[in-house]
Amino acid sequence: MNIKTELSTYTKRESFTTSLGVLAATLGSAVGLGNIWKFPFMTGQNGGAAFVLLYLVCVLFIGLPVMISEFIIGRRAKANCVSAFKKLEPNKPWYLTGVIGVLSAFLIMFFYTDVAGWVYSYIFKSASGVFNTIKPTETANVFSSFISGVWGPLFWQWVVLVVVSIIIIAGVTNGIERMTKTLLPILFVLLVICDIRALTLPGAVKGVVYLFKPDLSKITGAVVLSALGLAFFKLSVGMGCMTTYGSYIGDAENLPRNALRVALSDTLVSILAGLAIFPTVFAFGFKPEAGASLLFITIPAVFKAMPFGQIFMVLFFILSAIAATGAMISLLEVPVAYFTEQWKWSRTSATVVSAVIMGGVGVLATLSTSVLSKTLVFGKTFFDLFDYLSSNIFLTVGGIFICLFVGWKLGKQVILDEASNHGILNNQTVMSVFTFVVRYVAPVAIFIVLLSGLGIIKF
Ligand code: TRP
Repeated sequence: MNIKTELSTYTKRESFTTSLGVLAATLGSAVGLGNIWKFPFMTGQNGGAAFVLLYLVCVLFIGLPVMISEFIIGRRAKANCVSAFKKLEPNKPWYLTGVIGVLSAFLIMFFYTDVAGWVYSYIFKSASGVFNTIKPTETANVFSSFISGVWGPLFWQWVVLVVVSIIIIAGVTNGIERMTKTLLPILFVLLVICDIRALTLPGAVKGVVYLFKPDLSKITGAVVLSALGLAFFKLSVGMGCMTTYGSYIGDAENLPRNALRVALSDTLVSILAGLAIFPTVFAFGFKPEAGASLLFITIPAVFKAMPFGQIFMVLFFILSAIAATGAMISLLEVPVAYFTEQWKWSRTSATVVSAVIMGGVGVLATLSTSVLSKTLVFGKTFFDLFDYLSSNIFLTVGGIFICLFVGWKLGKQVILDEASNHGILNNQTVMSVFTFVVRYVAPVAIFIVLLSGLGIIKF
């Protein structure tokens, strides 16, 4: 009924359906607010193309190897992200990697549900016609008056949590995965429509230059760490989400190939979102560094500039809400799987308790744009703190341990064995390179980026 049974039924189907099912499930976790909201806003805050370039390097050389590693751990152990380590290395502290993962799921959900609430509410705002009577340049006012309220954003955050919980408890994840499979391509088409309109606005070229012409002087340790954190967040890696999915992948599936497909398609969606947003930013004179509000300012403006824009806008926010919901299901599933399997809670209790904690502490993130906007911890609002800690610290530290575990504990023979499906696939050479990367390159690189991003070492 849940992802687990859904995915294990894939393994009984013939091979084509199976591969597509696995791809849809893993892509359904990866594609979400990260693509349409976080990637553009972080690109804008970190100076544009140089950040995009770093991001691509991080996805390819670090995010992708970590994803393959998680698949290997998951499929080898066939267990949730904590038990997997316990099974493969009994009586050793490696399982703490999985525990950190469960904590990361909470940290991410504290603010993710807030942003998902903004998206849900924008379905109704655009349908009600609030944007019809204003100028494109006034979309920022609509957003700031919404998020500076207290009850509106809280109401939507809790709606989001109720929806996600119902899906998890009712075990209709199955239907959701199937829905994602059909709806993701539609989101893709809508993004292309936005791109075409955005790219034909007067002054659009500036946005394209901003996105693709790197100014290397903008790179600092903190920028590199943000790009790395975003790569982990985007690919849903570093916390055991993909380990859990890996445990449901059939023995005949090509793990490295599926990971590569997820990474490439996910990155394409982010770039398409960037191509809709940045030309619009420059055409209408918005600020690229507008931060978390960027999506909610630019997207209504670009839809206002096209025929049938209102209909497309409603559709855009519906599809974004569905993508965000798919990603949240994969996030909530991590603690739920842990509480049910390790602590023997019922699925309903595990879901309700997790959701109540997420909604309770999540209030701090949501009120960061209103009454708590001046309450800073380590110089950040709660919203920014949860975001920064989860992506930049928890996921990256998790990534180090996942690489070390696969590279040194499982070792080359197990890697070659799992990645080649016991010698059936001919990918020995690539996987030897992979082994080298997860043993030396990725963990060392993550560690250095972490230290320099935190200002502990300077270049
Ligand atoms: N990747 C998703 C997005 O971009 C968010 C997400 C889902 C995630 N599962 C995750 C992030 C696990 C980190 C870890 O919206």
